[in-house]
Amino acid sequence: MTTSVIEHDKFITHKPIISVCGKGGVGKTVFSALLGRVIVENGLKPLLLVDADPVGGLVSAIGEKAVKTLSGVRDMFIEETRKGGRVSSRQIADQLDYFILNALVEHHDYSFLAMGHTNEKGCFCSANKLLRSAMDEIISAFAFVLIDAEAGIEQINRDVTCNVNRIIVVLDASQRSVDTLNAISNMVDSSIITVVANRVLPDKLLNITKNIEIAGVIPENETLKQFDRDGWSLWKLPSDNEALMAVRKIAEITGLI
Ligand SMILES: Nc1ncnc2c1ncn2[C@@H]1O[C@H](COP(=O)(O)OP(=O)(O)O)[C@@H](O)[C@H]1O
Ligand SMILES: [Mg+2]
Repeated sequence: MTTSVIEHDKFITHKPIISVCGKGGVGKTVFSALLGRVIVENGLKPLLLVDADPVGGLVSAIGEKAVKTLSGVRDMFIEETRKGGRVSSRQIADQLDYFILNALVEHHDYSFLAMGHTNEKGCFCSANKLLRSAMDEIISAFAFVLIDAEAGIEQINRDVTCNVNRIIVVLDASQRSVDTLNAISNMVDSSIITVVANRVLPDKLLNITKNIEIAGVIPENETLKQFDRDGWSLWKLPSDNEALMAVRKIAEITGLI
């Protein structure tokens, strides 16, 4: 039986809130950066890009620098709750919007937010709940939300928002990337999953449980690799770059643009 861990909020499900998931190293950040560019080029704005991987590659992949991250806000809240709170939860909740807005880097067509790395370990449900509701308020101001995730959807539900309505799972040639897809497909309704094959042909991908189709293939691309290696923005790749064109086609086929 498929049990959904995603609770849809009726107020914000009408806009695409996409989480890019998959095993580490499969190409989530590359795909998110390229899809972000395609979305902006197609005038679907404003776009909110969320770098939710603690390692944080998306911000540099789009040629930006994150000065502030959200993790500090969460850690501060946890610290205060643990101490019994000189500052009340209410006061912190009131400050959250301000902190998030402070970490949000805004441009005309798009904005971005880096979640950063938290120093606090364990389950801090109240902190996460507060952060999520503040995040949902921010999300409501955007036409399109694209989240570069750590691996699975649980992390996004816990740390970012419960309102993801499309999950794009990136696969590479490894069986472990397929295992991650299978794990995700056991947690959510398969109809919200889109699968993208990076640097591998679909006929090489075996053991995908359930009837999940592959929306497209991104070829291995030397120029892209070089840009990434040298820390150049993937938004500066020539517009006829093959990997970029493949992402454009996937966005068209899946109705994102
Ligand atoms: N289609 C591709 N062509 C060439 N290099 C790629 C491609 N996709 C990913 N890479 C390279 O693979 C590495 C991992 O990609 P990345 O997007 O950072 O993975 P993830 O975010 O899933 O951990 C990076 O060095 C990136 O440049
Ligand atoms: Mg990444």
